[in-house]
Amino acid sequence: MDLMFSDKFLDALRTAKKAVVATGAGVSAESGVPTFRGEDGLWKKFRPEELATFEAFERNPELVWEWYRYRRDIINKIRPNPGHYAIAAMPPLFDDFCLVTQNVDGLHRVAGSDDVIELHGNIKRNRCLKCSRENYDEDFAEFPPLCSCGGRLRPDVVWFGELLPAGAFEKAEKAASSCDLFFSVGTSGVVQPAASLPLAAKRGGAFVVEINPVPTEITYITNEHLQGKSGEIMPVILERIRELRRKK
Ligand code: OAD
Repeated sequence: MDLMFSDKFLDALRTAKKAVVATGAGVSAESGVPTFRGEDGLWKKFRPEELATFEAFERNPELVWEWYRYRRDIINKIRPNPGHYAIAAMPPLFDDFCLVTQNVDGLHRVAGSDDVIELHGNIKRNRCLKCSRENYDEDFAEFPPLCSCGGRLRPDVVWFGELLPAGAFEKAEKAASSCDLFFSVGTSGVVQPAASLPLAAKRGGAFVVEINPVPTEITYITNEHLQGKSGEIMPVILERIRELRRKK
């Protein structure tokens, strides 16, 4: 793929010591995971407040569990794409590297990114509302599923109106505000607090790069918007960083 790199961008790729990659649903789109918004977005078919809130779960746990089982089934069948693999190969190229995702599909880990901040939880994990124990069971004896303690199980993801996992955002924000190169990959940049990370990076003086086929809410603050798919662009960026650092 032919990409135009500005001199400033090349300079940032060559010299950055601390890098942050922040991803959203778009990074998994080429693996076959539907995004939330946009043309093929899931929210076109389902209203978020009917499925992704604790109130919805209280009202109709069967429906909410069906929705998560449907998405788990998709995720169980798919593999990471070249975008995930390129990101997984980046940490050794920098002194400091942080990967933070809004995705709950776990594909970064499958691709080899062991150290990933999952801001919105993990769709394959269940958590008990009574004893807080977590497990990865998929075959439930009863439905909606129960924990061995008798408490109700829920998917361990963050729903609208809920707090993020303790410490996760703070860690990501600290990395973003102290990095010198920040990539925002495949996110519409509308869901807070994740959407504030590129701003924190910009305020901290980082060079901010966006990879997305379309402009988004955060495009205006970026130094570079690479218009295209992460599975095509991230491998090119990885190669470019390797090349530039070999020459150093
Ligand atoms: P969205 O569905 O809002 O945005 C996905 C973005 O990916 C869009 O801007 C697309 O243009 C872009 N995109 C599509 N295909 C792409 C590709 N191949 N390469 C790169 N980009 C591509 O997803 P998020 O921003 O991740 O939260 O949504 C944030 C949160 O909204 C989700 O984590 C979820 C939802 O509410 C929770 O469930 C808590």
